[in-house]
Amino acid sequence: MTRILSADKANILEAAELLRDGGLVAFPTETVYGLGANALDDRAVAKIFAAKERPRFNPLIVHVPDRQEAEEIVTFNPMASALAEAFWPGALTLVLPRRHPSPLAQLVSAGLPTAAVRSPAHGIARALIDAAGVPVAAPSANRSGRVSPTSAAHVAEELEGRVDIIIDGGPCPFGIESSVVGFDGGRPMLLRPGAVPRSAIEKVLGPLGVVKSGLIQAPGMLASHYAPRAKLRLGASDVQPGEALLAFGPDVPAGASSMQNLSPTGDLHEAAANLFSMLRTLDRSGAPTIAVMPIPERDLGEAINDRLERAAHPREE
Ligand code: TXA
Ligand code: MG
Repeated sequence: MTRILSADKANILEAAELLRDGGLVAFPTETVYGLGANALDDRAVAKIFAAKERPRFNPLIVHVPDRQEAEEIVTFNPMASALAEAFWPGALTLVLPRRHPSPLAQLVSAGLPTAAVRSPAHGIARALIDAAGVPVAAPSANRSGRVSPTSAAHVAEELEGRVDIIIDGGPCPFGIESSVVGFDGGRPMLLRPGAVPRSAIEKVLGPLGVVKSGLIQAPGMLASHYAPRAKLRLGASDVQPGEALLAFGPDVPAGASSMQNLSPTGDLHEAAANLFSMLRTLDRSGAPTIAVMPIPERDLGEAINDRLERAAHPREE
């Protein structure tokens, strides 16, 4: 069933071969763990949707070693080129028109004329993709709608028995997913705030377009996403009886049934790295509600608040 392997050379080669042959391999990236499949193989990509119970209308990110490989599957525009130049390899995903004809599995794009591409910086991800010799489709390695995994143990919690190999590369340095940029009639749009702050992207391109709410550009923008079992109460300055607390900064209200502090010094990078793992820990504590202290909207705060708002949105189930 599922094997968790250390990231030594022999294991990476074994995992790469399995990937190429249509298996599923979860691997670390600098953002979160990905659930990888050969992006040229429709049957392999279909296994991702099954393992995650992911709706078929939600397309996947294709991971490539570099810009040159990305050019094989999508067409760049000058703004996309500038972003790749500035941020690749790294935590930025570009949504661009698919090439025709393209060797890319149809399912990757979920019926859209575009594909999302990213060249990750993480050494283990790069070694795996290089050894596989194919582009690797990889969404975050969690069940659909749940919190993204930032450790091999999280992946096992989510996908035990549904993935062939998990490569254990330790905790992910950023801990929050890549920023996703797309183009609407030539206008750059931030489809998902992520590990590269808006301000850094805007330094390269100028102001990014605003995605109108209600208009789903990236299906990861579905309102309910990243959901823990507990309810979330955002912007909390106190703790109600029975609540767990997700704190931020040095001044923490007392009285929580259990408490995790995203960053006692108020560092947003540390907070992003801790976010998903602390949400999991507090969720496991069994508290019905997690109170969440306010997080400033600047820098990585935009991505953190985006995830928290989606996690707080009531689910239909
Ligand atoms: O950091 C990350 O991006 C991680 C690591 C593994 O690379 N991956 C990740 O994948 O977060 P996923 O599938 O959980 O999120 C991909 C996001 C979704 O919001 C999806 O809807 C959007 O990218 N996306 C993918 N292809 C798209 C397309 N063709 N058009 C618009 N949005 C797209
Ligand atoms: Mg995801």
